[in-house]
Amino acid sequence: MTSLTRRTLLIGGAAAGAVLATTGAGSPRLDNPFTLGVASGDPSHDGLVLWTRLAPKPLTEDGLGGMPNRVVPVHWELAEDERFRRVVRRGVEIARPQSGHSVHVEPFGLRPGREYFYRFRVDGHVSPTGRTRTAPEPWSIGQDLTMCFVSCAHYGEGYFTAYRRLAEDDPGLVLHLGDYQYEYAAKAADVRTVVGPETRTLADYRLRHALYKTDPDLQLAHAVAPWAVVWDDHEIENNWADEVPEQPDPDFLQRRAAAFQAYYENMPLRRGARPNGVDLQLYRRLRWGNLATFHLLDTRQYRDDQACGDGWKTCAEAGTPTRTITGAEQERWLLDGFRRSRSRWDVLGQQVFFAERDRKEGPDKELSMDSWDGYLASRDRITRGWVDARVRNTVVLTGDVHAAYAADVKADWNDPASRTVGTELVCSSVTSGGDGNDTVDEVQLRLNPHIKLHSRRRGYVRTRFSARQLRADFRALPHVRTPGAQATTLKSFVVEDRNPGLNPV
Ligand SMILES: [Fe+2]
Repeated sequence: MTSLTRRTLLIGGAAAGAVLATTGAGSPRLDNPFTLGVASGDPSHDGLVLWTRLAPKPLTEDGLGGMPNRVVPVHWELAEDERFRRVVRRGVEIARPQSGHSVHVEPFGLRPGREYFYRFRVDGHVSPTGRTRTAPEPWSIGQDLTMCFVSCAHYGEGYFTAYRRLAEDDPGLVLHLGDYQYEYAAKAADVRTVVGPETRTLADYRLRHALYKTDPDLQLAHAVAPWAVVWDDHEIENNWADEVPEQPDPDFLQRRAAAFQAYYENMPLRRGARPNGVDLQLYRRLRWGNLATFHLLDTRQYRDDQACGDGWKTCAEAGTPTRTITGAEQERWLLDGFRRSRSRWDVLGQQVFFAERDRKEGPDKELSMDSWDGYLASRDRITRGWVDARVRNTVVLTGDVHAAYAADVKADWNDPASRTVGTELVCSSVTSGGDGNDTVDEVQLRLNPHIKLHSRRRGYVRTRFSARQLRADFRALPHVRTPGAQATTLKSFVVEDRNPGLNPV
């Protein structure tokens, strides 16, 4: 994308105030409802999702965004050019109060592997313009793909500069691996004001999502590329596991349902992800031609409770063969996906640390019970699944830990000399934990020789997928508690086709 295009997207918010027509008879005309920006997501070769949510007053306590209690028609357009001279689809979608006045439009029959532009119109107000992209033709390798992935954005703990820098890299696809928002109330040390109490009700979660979506850096990142999102814990509650909350709470299922509903309303998810009672089907697959298959996992909704009371533990229970972090159904789906894959790269987009991370000297291991280290049999079944299926190249993408890591995935964690069977790339946080620093945990690196990078700098990971190799650039920011940081590449690795493991560049 040219810088001119980027500027157009940037000033789109101001243009959104433009009035093109007056409203129909009956209801009073809305104030500009496009305060939360626009987004697109889950591209296939012939379709995707276009999203917006109407909120003339985004920060009202009731979470309703200043919207009246009535349905509102939303006009949308999809064009091949950003001036909308070649509109290829248009329609009207009804925004309903029971969906927080969000819309999820799913145009289909589009051309593969190409860029599109979209916008919405309500009562003469025009939204900012978003840019999106369809996946390449099935069975084709297509062009190289730049995909950026990111996680852990606490609004109060810093500025979302990393989202802006990511947008400037012109990705064709963005993966968000969870902790898109945090449930907590404001803290004294925050540099930006978190509005509302700790989120428990639908109103709380809607308001929290609205607060985040008013952020201009986040709006820009959504406006430049389609996103594929999965949650981790903080979109609901810290370290939740299926029906088990962090602390005993008889109303947890209601809380979970409220969080799921608000998550659906505020994300560019397909309509098939609309919550059903206390469930939301989040795990799914995106195919990027034959270049890459993204298996997007949900390691929260179906997992067994953390072993040994959670935390870092030396814990025999973690090795119980029946333990699962994916649930049986998702595991079958994933193993089946490995067997069917014809992709050059099979990518697991997921939440928590996959490789072993031991932090204790001596023969006993001390591991994080919230990560795959607390679900050893589950990890073995998945790893063996991709090895047995002869998946050509497996890459695990991870968020959660507020630090960047790169690791070789080993066949046997008790034998450092065992075969490398995959690669894990872990993004740092957008802001969680504040500015970050350059201290490196040397003990961790020594105890875990498969870990090749550890950095507590904030940022994101930019990947470039091609037929012959995957390149990963770890992008880091010097500060986030003040705005405007530039991003630099901390370290780059290449993974070669049919040769799992990290090669430093
Ligand atoms: Fe986080």
